[in-house]
Amino acid sequence: MVRVGIIGMGIRGNLYASTVKYNAYAEVKAVAEGNSARLKEATEQLGVPGYADYNKMLEENDFDMVVVALPDHLHREAVLKTAAKKCHLLIEKPLATSYEDAKVMVEGIRKAGVKALVGFENRWNPVMLSAKEAIDANELKDVQLIHARLNDSIMVPTRMLGWAAGSTVAWFLFPHIIDLSLWMTGKKVRSVHAFGQKNVLAAMGVDTYDSITAVVEFEDNLVGTYSSSWIYPESLPLVYDLRFEVLGTAGAIAVDCRDQMIHKMTDVYTHPGILGRPIYGKPVGFAAEMLNSFIDNVRLDTEPLVDLDQALYGVNVIDTIHRSVISRKVEEVR
Ligand SMILES: NC(=O)c1ccc[n+]([C@@H]2O[C@H](COP(=O)([O-])OP(=O)(O)OC[C@H]3O[C@@H](n4cnc5c(N)ncnc54)[C@H](O)[C@@H]3O)[C@@H](O)[C@H]2O)c1
Repeated sequence: MVRVGIIGMGIRGNLYASTVKYNAYAEVKAVAEGNSARLKEATEQLGVPGYADYNKMLEENDFDMVVVALPDHLHREAVLKTAAKKCHLLIEKPLATSYEDAKVMVEGIRKAGVKALVGFENRWNPVMLSAKEAIDANELKDVQLIHARLNDSIMVPTRMLGWAAGSTVAWFLFPHIIDLSLWMTGKKVRSVHAFGQKNVLAAMGVDTYDSITAVVEFEDNLVGTYSSSWIYPESLPLVYDLRFEVLGTAGAIAVDCRDQMIHKMTDVYTHPGILGRPIYGKPVGFAAEMLNSFIDNVRLDTEPLVDLDQALYGVNVIDTIHRSVISRKVEEVR
């Protein structure tokens, strides 16, 4: 059995814990969570030891792998300490909220010789896999434009996450759309020009950007536009709005995840999330697939689907986007 530890029992930590429950080859051995009510709930539900301090959890248990599902800006120490204990790591995206941190983390992971997967769950999203297949089969010929937007309702930074001010909308959402672009095209980035606005959230006491938009110049004459906002009204029918379009010289692909085939009209109008919903309690969506595939990597000693260098490169690109937001100039990827 693959022995799993989970650090951070919020939304993602709980999703992974329920996924492991249905995996015949793995079991959760212990969890760590800083919020005492969440810790109590998790330990009662899972029937495993719970720790307020993840250092203590790492000291007192032997794990094969640990999931780091902490807030964006808190991944570094947990990853370095877990790697030093020689445990394989599933690390939620973003790997880190700075390129400097990410480099140190990757160095620590490499030094420890453990496997690590960064949570780019869209690589397991059937819709995105179809898009990649078409690009790989050269159906679009030379890809010259990518338009990607991924927005959240304002509920996410204000009511869902207690820590939005420790991150940015781009650290939280761009990892998906930047990774999709790098993964689908295999191209490197040359430069970026990005813009950020701080109005609504800052006025509500959440000191972070409302929106970040970047024009990204890739090699081979490919250009991408990326935009993420955290201030869409709560009337957004699905909590997120993901659109990803690729234009090549011979065709185009447009992914629109806003409409997941069911429109619900009660006192409010909503699009219930279907991609990723559990089936009779069993998590079977792409986040679950990602975790199950990493469990397979650990037990069969195979390589994770997301290469650590690719994850590090993605952090480099998003870090450059933040540099450009601040400098208001075009910035080269270092
Ligand atoms: N892959 C995806 O599609 C996806 C989707 C959503 C979130 N995420 C990422 O997953 C991570 C977690 O997000 P979430 O939505 O579960 O957030 P969350 O706020 O629901 O969960 C984080 C948990 O960590 C706990 N915590 C904070 N500091 C701690 C510490 N020092 N020790 C132990 N516990 C501590 C918090 O109390 C909280 O319960 C983030 O990095 C986020 O960006 C990924």
